[in-house]
Amino acid sequence: MQKRRSENGTRASRALFHTAAVEPWSLCRNRYSLRNLMTDPSEHWQSVYKNKAPEEVSWFQTEPHLSYKLIASAAPSRDARIADIGGGASTLVDTLIAKGYTNVAVLDLAPAALHRAQARLGADAWRADWLAADVLTVTFPPESIDVWHDRAVFHFLTRPEDRDRYVEQVKRAVRPGGHVLVATFAEDGPTRCSGLPVARYSSEQLHGTFGLGFVLEKSAREDHTTPSGAHQAFTYCLCRWEPDHSGRVVA
Ligand SMILES: C[S@@+](CC[C@H](N)C(=O)[O-])C[C@H]1O[C@@H](n2cnc3c(N)ncnc32)[C@H](O)[C@@H]1O
Repeated sequence: MQKRRSENGTRASRALFHTAAVEPWSLCRNRYSLRNLMTDPSEHWQSVYKNKAPEEVSWFQTEPHLSYKLIASAAPSRDARIADIGGGASTLVDTLIAKGYTNVAVLDLAPAALHRAQARLGADAWRADWLAADVLTVTFPPESIDVWHDRAVFHFLTRPEDRDRYVEQVKRAVRPGGHVLVATFAEDGPTRCSGLPVARYSSEQLHGTFGLGFVLEKSAREDHTTPSGAHQAFTYCLCRWEPDHSGRVVA
């Protein structure tokens, strides 16, 4: 897929996710402008991003080193389609763009979060795709993602039916042989985040939640230091989606 600008020099407009209402992301994407598919905006997350600077929230990272390292190991090709699910105002999109990735999308429930990230990127914001939507209900184009990244979103799903729905979304959106990288609070991490209860996971538990077909390639633990100096343990799992295989551990 090739980046392009329209003939009059303005930013190219290629739509993002394939839903009943929009065109396939892989064919024509909506660069820079924010497509809002929200029907039930989350007041909680909107208010967080409206009232706090990105550097003030507990999950802020100056550089998402571990996420980037694992993404680059799974998808070295710079045209890999990478989706940061619940990316918020994370700097991961900045890092991926700076490293030369050309197909990066950020999806989040809170438009305010995406506006924060766009403002930070400034003239480079058009290099990513932006979608305000709920990961549980948005219609992803089938097999349209090479790497699904989620840091600190899945752990908010405390109801089994929501976790099942999330996994179904991954199975639809990630191409066979593609990867899903999910980071949650570890089993000894905090019990709440942003005032909300979370589920905590060891790598075995997190991998097990995704079930058959997800081959665990790598797992890691991260000691995250919040802007206020607290320590939070995270579990990262990088799995390859192999629909024809069992979820055996290979590394
Ligand atoms: C703790 S923050 C993590 C943000 C980012 N991943 C990071 O590591 O900096 C959780 C993010 O998930 C988003 N979020 C929560 N539930 C969501 C959902 N159902 N669909 C999409 N985004 C969601 C929130 O708006 C928020 O930006």
